[in-house]
Amino acid sequence: VSEQSASEAVRYEWRNRIHAEYTSAAITQHLTLWLIQMGASPDLIDDGLRIVTDELVHAQMSAEVYAEAGGTEPPQIERESLQLPRHPEQLLEMDITRAGVQMFCLGETVAVPLFSHLRQGCTVPVARDALDRILKDEVRHRDFGWQLLDALLDTPVADELRQLIDVELPQMMASLQQSYGDAVDDGAEAIEDISDADRLWGLAPASEYAEILSRTIERDYIPRFNERSIDLVRLLGRG
Ligand SMILES: [Fe+2]
Ligand SMILES: [Fe+2]
Repeated sequence: VSEQSASEAVRYEWRNRIHAEYTSAAITQHLTLWLIQMGASPDLIDDGLRIVTDELVHAQMSAEVYAEAGGTEPPQIERESLQLPRHPEQLLEMDITRAGVQMFCLGETVAVPLFSHLRQGCTVPVARDALDRILKDEVRHRDFGWQLLDALLDTPVADELRQLIDVELPQMMASLQQSYGDAVDDGAEAIEDISDADRLWGLAPASEYAEILSRTIERDYIPRFNERSIDLVRLLGRG
């Protein structure tokens, strides 16, 4: 058996990544439709469309890794989940802000150091190719998020959007921390789940996800929100 034989954890993880990347494609498409409806700048709309294409490539490449790892049951994704929820009683800009902050300012910003870390230990060619491409794109996806936020904070309804961020950002942070395993105290158990062989396929234990997230909060979220006069330290109740 070569070092490339894959564990169940590898198949499970890459199957989830197919799901996540495909979902990203759909919701970025939806967000970009909203940008068109809002009359956002052509640059921002172009960037959004390009990201949709990237995410479809990421999903395809993840499916190739999954198949190479011996996976034979690609995820069944509910059609209803492949869209963003609209609150029709609220301004469109509010739903754009929610999705933009959560998916891009938070999600794509932490994705950069995360995928960089996953890629470091990854030597199985098909997985390495996928992580190379994902990491290269993720930097641009992160930048799109912060440019989108700047554009939103430059609209006549900026005050309302700032208020929404004040109210909803703490909850967004909490669910991010939960999904990165920070909230749970069983890191030691999680470490055992990922073997050295799994790292060659681009996996890492939950404790490392949590570490990367807390570094990202200090190095990226706090300063980047600060530049936009959003006091994340205060919102997290640490100020
Ligand atoms: Fe992606
Ligand atoms: Fe992305």
